[in-house]
Amino acid sequence: MATVVITGAGQGLGRADAVRLAADGWSVVCLDLNGDLAAETAELVGGTSFAVDVTDRDAVLAVADEVPECTALVNNAGIWKFHSILDMTPEQARSVFEVNVLGIIWCTQAFVPKMKAAGTGSIVNMSSGAAWTSSPGLGLYPATKSGVESLTKTMALELGPDNIRANAIGPGLIVSDGTAANYQGDAAAKRAKGVPMARVGDPTDIADVVAFLCGNDSRYVSGQVIYVDGAVTAGALAR
Ligand SMILES: NC(=O)c1ccc[n+]([C@@H]2O[C@H](COP(=O)([O-])OP(=O)(O)OC[C@H]3O[C@@H](n4cnc5c(N)ncnc54)[C@H](O)[C@@H]3O)[C@@H](O)[C@H]2O)c1
Repeated sequence: MATVVITGAGQGLGRADAVRLAADGWSVVCLDLNGDLAAETAELVGGTSFAVDVTDRDAVLAVADEVPECTALVNNAGIWKFHSILDMTPEQARSVFEVNVLGIIWCTQAFVPKMKAAGTGSIVNMSSGAAWTSSPGLGLYPATKSGVESLTKTMALELGPDNIRANAIGPGLIVSDGTAANYQGDAAAKRAKGVPMARVGDPTDIADVVAFLCGNDSRYVSGQVIYVDGAVTAGALAR
């Protein structure tokens, strides 16, 4: 059975990805900073879990030593700290960059050798609509997600000869564990008014596309970014 490694699998989009991929028959390895949540997801999907900080390269490499095979990697773990450019502290900037960009590189370095051994692989990196259209006060987050998209293209070019694909997904407004506080009361309905498809998204909206990109149906798709956002980015200039 094929094995997928998912970072940030303890909750939110990562957990939804785990549920969907397990339903497709994948053996799921759940990685998260929060080991208890990762273990909960693993129990839910009959997979395995590891508590690991994706910014700790040595720790990620040690986890990879414990995982016998990997043919798909979902680099989903991400954080955001919102503030103006002028207020940004070195700690805020470094932490967001280290998780959202360097974490993807360390996990890719750790798991690609297993894909090469298998002769096939798919990497899915989690970007954001914020890579395409920013707003005041989003801090370094949009820049890190633009970086994710750029990295994805480089990965696709470097790893294509090994039959390893790399793509990114740009979620729009998705109600997850991490963002639920933004959708309390009538906030979800208000936010939905800015979405051409007139609703905010659910983690399963993303997980279904993750499943497509991990699976064989996307076997000739690489170096692409798919925005899964109810057409928000399509109309960004019009607003
Ligand atoms: N929810 C949205 O609306 C939305 C929109 C655009 C992009 N995204 C992206 O999707 C991804 C998932 O978002 P979410 O809403 O599910 O977030 P979330 O906060 O609900 O879950 C993120 C998970 O990542 C884990 N994590 C954080 N730092 C980590 C680290 N250093 N090492 C390992 N695990 C770590 C957390 O413990 C948590 O379980 C992120 O990359 C985010 O930027 C989300």
